[in-house]
Amino acid sequence: MTPARAVLSGIGACVPSNTVTNADLSRHLDTSPEWITSRTGIEERHVVSGGESTVDLAVEAGTRALKSAGVAAVDAVVLATTSPERLCPAGAPEVAHRLGLGFVPAFDLTSACSGFVFGLGTSQGLIASGLARSVLLIGAEAFTTLVDPEDRGTAVIFGDGAGAVVLRAGTGAEPGAIGPVSLGTDGSRADLLHIPSGGSRQRAATGLGHELDKSSWYLQMAGRTLFQQAVARMTEASRSALDDAGWTVPMVDLFVGHQANLRILTAVAKRLEVPEERVFVNIDRVGNTLAASIPLALTAAAAQGELNTGDRVLLSAFGAGLSWGGTTLVWPDLAVESPL
Ligand code: UT7
Repeated sequence: MTPARAVLSGIGACVPSNTVTNADLSRHLDTSPEWITSRTGIEERHVVSGGESTVDLAVEAGTRALKSAGVAAVDAVVLATTSPERLCPAGAPEVAHRLGLGFVPAFDLTSACSGFVFGLGTSQGLIASGLARSVLLIGAEAFTTLVDPEDRGTAVIFGDGAGAVVLRAGTGAEPGAIGPVSLGTDGSRADLLHIPSGGSRQRAATGLGHELDKSSWYLQMAGRTLFQQAVARMTEASRSALDDAGWTVPMVDLFVGHQANLRILTAVAKRLEVPEERVFVNIDRVGNTLAASIPLALTAAAAQGELNTGDRVLLSAFGAGLSWGGTTLVWPDLAVESPL
Protein backbone atom coordinates (compact mmCIF):
# COMPACT_ATOMS: atom_id res chain seq x y z
CA MET A 1 0.00 0.00 0.00
CA THR A 2 1.28 3.52 -0.84
CA PRO A 3 2.07 5.44 2.36
CA ALA A 4 -0.26 8.33 3.15
CA ARG A 5 0.90 11.83 2.21
CA ALA A 6 0.64 15.02 4.28
CA VAL A 7 -2.01 17.26 2.74
CA LEU A 8 -2.41 20.93 3.68
CA SER A 9 -5.92 21.47 5.06
CA GLY A 10 -5.68 24.69 7.10
CA ILE A 11 -3.42 27.71 7.55
CA GLY A 12 -3.18 30.73 9.84
CA ALA A 13 -0.64 33.27 11.00
CA CYS A 14 -0.20 36.23 13.29
CA VAL A 15 2.27 38.96 14.19
CA PRO A 16 2.59 40.99 17.40
CA SER A 17 0.62 44.25 17.32
CA ASN A 18 3.74 46.35 18.09
CA THR A 19 5.20 47.65 14.80
CA VAL A 20 8.77 48.97 14.56
CA THR A 21 9.61 51.02 11.46
CA ASN A 22 13.02 51.75 9.98
CA ALA A 23 12.61 55.35 11.17
CA ASP A 24 12.05 54.05 14.74
CA LEU A 25 15.32 52.05 14.57
CA SER A 26 17.22 54.95 13.04
CA ARG A 27 16.48 57.07 16.12
CA HIS A 28 18.78 54.99 18.35
CA LEU A 29 21.03 53.13 15.87
CA ASP A 30 23.73 54.41 13.52
CA THR A 31 21.68 53.54 10.44
CA SER A 32 19.08 55.10 8.15
CA PRO A 33 15.71 54.03 6.70
CA GLU A 34 17.30 54.25 3.23
CA TRP A 35 20.16 51.87 4.15
CA ILE A 36 17.78 49.30 5.66
CA THR A 37 15.33 49.42 2.75
CA SER A 38 17.97 49.31 0.02
CA ARG A 39 20.14 46.57 1.62
CA THR A 40 17.30 44.34 2.95
CA GLY A 41 13.93 45.33 1.46
CA ILE A 42 12.51 45.71 4.99
CA GLU A 43 10.28 48.70 5.80
CA GLU A 44 8.88 47.56 9.13
CA ARG A 45 8.69 44.53 11.39
CA HIS A 46 6.52 43.38 14.32
CA VAL A 47 8.17 42.92 17.69
CA VAL A 48 6.90 41.24 20.86
CA SER A 49 6.13 43.54 23.78
CA GLY A 50 4.47 43.43 27.18
CA GLY A 51 5.62 39.89 27.99
CA GLU A 52 4.31 38.35 24.73
CA SER A 53 6.13 35.08 24.05
CA THR A 54 6.82 32.49 21.36
CA VAL A 55 4.14 30.20 22.80
CA ASP A 56 1.56 33.02 22.82
CA LEU A 57 2.21 33.64 19.12
CA ALA A 58 2.16 29.90 18.37
CA VAL A 59 -1.20 29.48 20.13
CA GLU A 60 -2.74 32.36 18.14
CA ALA A 61 -1.44 31.05 14.79
CA GLY A 62 -2.47 27.51 15.76
CA THR A 63 -5.99 28.66 16.64
CA ARG A 64 -6.33 30.29 13.23
CA ALA A 65 -4.99 27.23 11.37
CA LEU A 66 -7.39 24.87 13.20
CA LYS A 67 -10.27 27.23 12.36
CA SER A 68 -9.17 27.36 8.71
CA ALA A 69 -9.09 23.53 8.62
CA GLY A 70 -12.44 23.31 10.45
CA VAL A 71 -11.06 20.85 13.01
CA ALA A 72 -10.77 20.90 16.80
CA ALA A 73 -8.30 18.02 17.18
CA VAL A 74 -5.04 16.77 15.69
CA ASP A 75 -2.85 13.75 16.43
CA ALA A 76 0.44 15.64 16.95
CA VAL A 77 1.91 19.12 17.35
CA VAL A 78 5.31 20.18 15.97
CA LEU A 79 6.65 23.59 16.96
CA ALA A 80 9.54 24.88 14.85
CA THR A 81 11.32 27.61 16.78
CA THR A 82 14.83 28.89 17.48
CA SER A 83 13.62 31.35 20.10
CA PRO A 84 11.94 29.07 22.65
CA GLU A 85 10.62 30.59 25.86
CA ARG A 86 13.07 28.48 27.84
CA LEU A 87 15.65 25.74 27.33
CA CYS A 88 13.49 23.16 29.04
CA PRO A 89 10.84 21.93 28.50
CA ALA A 90 9.81 22.26 24.85
CA GLY A 91 7.03 24.76 24.09
CA ALA A 92 4.91 22.42 21.93
CA PRO A 93 3.23 20.53 24.83
CA GLU A 94 2.12 23.87 26.32
CA VAL A 95 0.82 24.96 22.91
CA ALA A 96 -1.12 21.69 22.61
CA HIS A 97 -2.50 22.14 26.13
CA ARG A 98 -3.55 25.76 25.55
CA LEU A 99 -5.25 24.78 22.27
CA GLY A 100 -7.23 22.06 24.10
CA LEU A 101 -5.66 19.30 22.01
CA GLY A 102 -5.26 16.86 24.91
CA PHE A 103 -2.31 14.58 25.59
CA VAL A 104 -1.05 14.39 21.99
CA PRO A 105 2.64 13.96 21.16
CA ALA A 106 4.12 17.45 20.88
CA PHE A 107 7.73 18.50 20.41
CA ASP A 108 9.97 21.38 19.30
CA LEU A 109 12.21 21.36 16.27
CA THR A 110 15.23 23.69 16.01
CA SER A 111 16.29 24.39 12.43
CA ALA A 112 16.34 28.19 12.51
CA CYS A 113 15.01 29.74 9.29
CA SER A 114 14.64 26.30 7.67
CA GLY A 115 12.49 25.12 10.60
CA PHE A 116 9.17 25.18 8.77
CA VAL A 117 10.48 23.16 5.81
CA PHE A 118 12.16 20.68 8.21
CA GLY A 119 8.78 20.57 9.98
CA LEU A 120 7.02 19.71 6.71
CA GLY A 121 9.47 16.83 6.19
CA THR A 122 8.99 15.65 9.77
CA SER A 123 5.19 15.89 9.55
CA GLN A 124 5.30 14.03 6.24
CA GLY A 125 7.22 11.27 8.04
CA LEU A 126 4.79 11.14 10.98
CA ILE A 127 1.87 10.79 8.57
CA ALA A 128 3.54 8.34 6.16
CA SER A 129 4.56 6.08 9.06
CA GLY A 130 1.03 6.03 10.44
CA LEU A 131 2.15 7.59 13.73
CA ALA A 132 -0.28 10.47 13.12
CA ARG A 133 -3.23 11.03 10.81
CA SER A 134 -3.04 14.79 11.30
CA VAL A 135 -0.38 17.25 12.47
CA LEU A 136 -0.47 20.87 13.56
CA LEU A 137 2.86 22.32 12.41
CA ILE A 138 3.72 25.79 13.72
CA GLY A 139 6.68 28.05 13.03
CA ALA A 140 6.83 30.66 15.81
CA GLU A 141 9.55 33.09 16.82
CA ALA A 142 10.24 35.92 19.23
CA PHE A 143 13.80 36.06 17.92
CA THR A 144 14.16 39.82 18.42
CA THR A 145 14.63 39.00 22.13
CA LEU A 146 17.93 37.25 21.21
CA VAL A 147 19.32 40.09 19.11
CA ASP A 148 21.47 42.92 20.51
CA PRO A 149 19.28 46.03 20.13
CA GLU A 150 22.49 48.10 19.80
CA ASP A 151 23.99 46.03 16.94
CA ARG A 152 22.98 47.70 13.69
CA GLY A 153 24.19 44.69 11.69
CA THR A 154 21.51 42.40 13.14
CA ALA A 155 18.90 44.57 14.92
CA VAL A 156 17.45 45.87 11.66
CA ILE A 157 16.77 42.47 10.10
CA PHE A 158 14.62 40.40 12.42
CA GLY A 159 10.93 40.46 13.30
CA ASP A 160 8.60 38.27 15.36
CA GLY A 161 5.56 36.26 14.34
CA ALA A 162 4.04 32.84 13.84
CA GLY A 163 2.46 30.77 11.09
CA ALA A 164 0.77 27.40 11.34
CA VAL A 165 -0.61 24.70 9.07
CA VAL A 166 -2.82 21.69 9.63
CA LEU A 167 -1.66 18.66 7.65
CA ARG A 168 -3.88 15.60 7.27
CA ALA A 169 -3.31 12.15 5.79
CA GLY A 170 -4.25 11.95 2.12
CA THR A 171 -2.88 11.01 -1.27
CA GLY A 172 -0.19 12.59 -3.43
CA ALA A 173 -2.73 13.35 -6.14
CA GLU A 174 -4.81 15.71 -3.99
CA PRO A 175 -4.38 19.51 -4.06
CA GLY A 176 -2.43 20.48 -0.95
CA ALA A 177 -0.31 17.30 -0.94
CA ILE A 178 3.20 18.20 0.22
CA GLY A 179 5.68 17.17 -2.48
CA PRO A 180 8.99 15.41 -1.83
CA VAL A 181 10.91 17.44 0.78
CA SER A 182 14.60 18.07 0.09
CA LEU A 183 16.68 18.88 3.20
CA GLY A 184 20.36 19.47 3.98
CA THR A 185 22.76 20.83 6.62
CA ASP A 186 26.42 21.86 6.96
CA GLY A 187 27.51 21.81 10.60
CA SER A 188 31.03 22.96 9.73
CA ARG A 189 29.62 26.50 9.22
CA ALA A 190 27.66 26.64 12.50
CA ASP A 191 29.50 29.76 13.64
CA LEU A 192 28.22 31.89 10.75
CA LEU A 193 25.03 32.51 12.71
CA HIS A 194 25.06 31.53 16.36
CA ILE A 195 24.33 32.52 19.94
CA PRO A 196 27.39 31.31 21.86
CA SER A 197 26.05 31.20 25.41
CA GLY A 198 22.90 30.12 27.21
CA GLY A 199 23.33 26.42 26.42
CA SER A 200 25.18 23.55 28.10
CA ARG A 201 28.67 24.43 26.76
CA GLN A 202 28.65 28.00 27.99
CA ARG A 203 26.07 29.02 30.54
CA ALA A 204 25.13 32.70 30.82
CA ALA A 205 27.90 34.81 32.33
CA THR A 206 25.62 36.75 34.64
CA GLY A 207 26.44 35.18 38.01
CA LEU A 208 28.16 36.80 40.96
CA GLY A 209 31.33 38.59 39.88
CA HIS A 210 30.59 38.24 36.15
CA GLU A 211 29.83 41.00 33.70
CA LEU A 212 27.17 40.28 31.10
CA ASP A 213 29.19 39.41 27.99
CA LYS A 214 27.00 40.80 25.22
CA SER A 215 29.02 39.23 22.43
CA SER A 216 28.30 35.73 23.73
CA TRP A 217 24.77 36.38 24.96
CA TYR A 218 23.35 37.79 21.71
CA LEU A 219 23.21 36.56 18.14
CA GLN A 220 26.50 36.70 16.21
CA MET A 221 26.15 36.80 12.43
CA ALA A 222 28.59 36.85 9.50
CA GLY A 223 26.12 38.59 7.19
CA ARG A 224 28.07 38.74 3.94
CA THR A 225 29.16 35.07 3.96
CA LEU A 226 25.67 33.99 4.98
CA PHE A 227 24.23 35.98 2.12
CA GLN A 228 26.31 34.01 -0.41
CA GLN A 229 25.47 30.70 1.28
CA ALA A 230 21.76 31.58 1.34
CA VAL A 231 21.68 32.27 -2.39
CA ALA A 232 23.59 29.08 -3.27
CA ARG A 233 21.69 26.76 -0.89
CA MET A 234 18.20 28.11 -1.57
CA THR A 235 18.83 27.76 -5.29
CA GLU A 236 20.09 24.20 -4.79
CA ALA A 237 17.16 23.26 -2.49
CA SER A 238 14.69 24.71 -4.99
CA ARG A 239 16.21 22.74 -7.87
CA SER A 240 16.14 19.49 -5.84
CA ALA A 241 12.52 20.03 -4.81
CA LEU A 242 11.50 20.71 -8.41
CA ASP A 243 13.42 17.67 -9.75
CA ASP A 244 11.96 15.37 -7.05
CA ALA A 245 8.45 16.57 -7.89
CA GLY A 246 9.02 16.19 -11.63
CA TRP A 247 8.31 19.90 -12.12
CA THR A 248 10.15 22.49 -14.24
CA VAL A 249 10.57 26.19 -13.43
CA PRO A 250 7.93 27.40 -15.95
CA MET A 251 5.36 25.26 -14.10
CA VAL A 252 5.81 27.32 -10.91
CA ASP A 253 3.04 29.89 -10.35
CA LEU A 254 4.50 31.29 -7.12
CA PHE A 255 7.93 31.03 -5.50
CA VAL A 256 7.60 31.49 -1.73
CA GLY A 257 11.12 31.60 -0.35
CA HIS A 258 12.32 32.33 3.17
CA GLN A 259 12.14 36.09 3.62
CA ALA A 260 15.71 36.79 4.85
CA ASN A 261 16.63 39.65 2.54
CA LEU A 262 14.91 40.90 -0.61
CA ARG A 263 18.27 40.81 -2.42
CA ILE A 264 18.65 37.10 -1.55
CA LEU A 265 15.17 36.31 -2.91
CA THR A 266 15.87 38.26 -6.09
CA ALA A 267 19.24 36.54 -6.60
CA VAL A 268 17.73 33.06 -6.09
CA ALA A 269 14.86 33.83 -8.49
CA LYS A 270 17.35 35.11 -11.09
CA ARG A 271 19.45 31.95 -10.86
CA LEU A 272 16.34 29.76 -11.13
CA GLU A 273 14.94 31.98 -13.90
CA VAL A 274 11.67 32.51 -12.02
CA PRO A 275 10.15 35.78 -13.32
CA GLU A 276 9.94 38.60 -10.75
CA GLU A 277 6.12 38.65 -10.75
CA ARG A 278 6.11 35.04 -9.56
CA VAL A 279 8.23 35.76 -6.48
CA PHE A 280 6.23 36.43 -3.33
CA VAL A 281 7.59 39.19 -1.10
CA ASN A 282 6.33 40.27 2.31
CA ILE A 283 9.69 40.95 4.00
CA ASP A 284 8.89 44.66 3.66
CA ARG A 285 6.12 44.26 6.27
CA VAL A 286 7.53 41.59 8.61
CA GLY A 287 11.35 41.33 8.32
CA ASN A 288 13.10 38.01 8.82
CA THR A 289 10.89 35.88 11.10
CA LEU A 290 12.96 32.64 10.84
CA ALA A 291 10.71 29.54 11.10
CA ALA A 292 7.57 31.68 10.89
CA SER A 293 8.67 33.23 7.60
CA ILE A 294 7.25 30.75 5.08
CA PRO A 295 3.87 30.03 6.74
CA LEU A 296 3.44 33.80 7.31
CA ALA A 297 4.26 34.43 3.65
CA LEU A 298 1.89 31.69 2.45
CA THR A 299 -0.93 33.05 4.61
CA ALA A 300 -0.32 36.60 3.40
CA ALA A 301 -0.08 35.50 -0.24
CA ALA A 302 -3.39 33.60 -0.04
CA ALA A 303 -5.14 36.40 1.88
CA GLN A 304 -3.96 38.99 -0.70
CA GLY A 305 -5.16 36.86 -3.63
CA GLU A 306 -1.60 36.28 -4.90
CA LEU A 307 -2.02 32.56 -4.25
CA ASN A 308 -5.10 30.84 -5.62
CA THR A 309 -6.55 27.35 -5.69
CA GLY A 310 -4.64 25.18 -8.17
CA ASP A 311 -1.48 27.33 -8.17
CA ARG A 312 1.78 25.40 -8.17
CA VAL A 313 3.98 26.63 -5.32
CA LEU A 314 7.73 26.23 -4.77
CA LEU A 315 9.03 26.69 -1.21
CA SER A 316 12.65 27.01 -0.14
CA ALA A 317 14.50 28.15 2.95
CA PHE A 318 17.99 28.62 4.36
CA GLY A 319 19.24 29.37 7.84
CA ALA A 320 21.57 28.75 10.74
CA GLY A 321 23.05 25.31 11.14
CA LEU A 322 23.68 25.80 8.34
CA SER A 323 20.42 24.28 7.17
CA TRP A 324 18.33 24.41 4.02
CA GLY A 325 15.32 22.77 2.42
CA GLY A 326 12.69 22.96 -0.26
CA THR A 327 9.44 21.40 -1.38
CA THR A 328 6.45 21.90 -3.68
CA LEU A 329 2.67 21.81 -3.44
CA VAL A 330 -0.44 22.63 -5.42
CA TRP A 331 -2.44 25.20 -3.44
CA PRO A 332 -5.73 23.75 -2.15
CA ASP A 333 -9.04 25.53 -1.56
CA LEU A 334 -8.56 27.03 1.93
CA ALA A 335 -10.26 29.58 4.16
CA VAL A 336 -7.57 32.17 4.98
CA GLU A 337 -7.56 35.17 7.33
CA SER A 338 -5.02 37.98 6.81
CA PRO A 339 -2.14 37.77 9.33
CA LEU A 340 -1.66 41.55 9.56
O1 UT7 B 1 17.83 34.11 7.72
C1 UT7 B 1 18.94 33.46 7.19
C2 UT7 B 1 20.20 33.93 7.81
N1 UT7 B 1 20.51 35.33 7.63
C3 UT7 B 1 20.83 35.82 6.44
O2 UT7 B 1 20.68 35.20 5.42
C4 UT7 B 1 21.42 37.21 6.39
C5 UT7 B 1 22.19 37.38 5.13
N2 UT7 B 1 22.90 38.63 5.08
C6 UT7 B 1 22.32 39.82 4.79
O3 UT7 B 1 21.11 39.92 4.65
C7 UT7 B 1 23.21 41.02 4.61
O4 UT7 B 1 24.56 40.59 4.63
C8 UT7 B 1 23.02 42.13 5.69
C9 UT7 B 1 21.68 42.81 5.48
C10 UT7 B 1 23.11 41.53 7.07
C11 UT7 B 1 24.11 43.19 5.54
O5 UT7 B 1 24.08 43.74 4.23
P1 UT7 B 1 25.41 43.81 3.36
O6 UT7 B 1 25.05 44.50 2.13
O7 UT7 B 1 25.95 42.42 3.25
O8 UT7 B 1 26.34 44.73 4.23
P2 UT7 B 1 27.77 44.38 4.85
O9 UT7 B 1 27.65 43.51 6.04
O10 UT7 B 1 28.69 43.98 3.74
O11 UT7 B 1 28.20 45.83 5.33
C12 UT7 B 1 28.39 46.92 4.41
C13 UT7 B 1 28.58 48.20 5.19
C14 UT7 B 1 29.59 48.05 6.34
O12 UT7 B 1 30.29 49.26 6.44
P3 UT7 B 1 31.76 49.39 5.80
O13 UT7 B 1 32.58 48.31 6.44
O14 UT7 B 1 31.58 49.15 4.32
O15 UT7 B 1 32.17 50.78 6.16
C15 UT7 B 1 28.70 47.90 7.56
O16 UT7 B 1 29.33 48.33 8.74
O17 UT7 B 1 27.34 48.57 5.80
C16 UT7 B 1 27.54 48.79 7.20
N3 UT7 B 1 26.30 48.44 7.89
C17 UT7 B 1 25.32 49.32 8.08
N4 UT7 B 1 25.20 50.61 7.74
C18 UT7 B 1 24.06 51.23 8.09
C19 UT7 B 1 25.94 47.24 8.39
N5 UT7 B 1 24.70 47.32 8.93
C20 UT7 B 1 24.31 48.61 8.75
C21 UT7 B 1 23.13 49.32 9.07
N6 UT7 B 1 23.05 50.62 8.73
N7 UT7 B 1 22.08 48.74 9.70
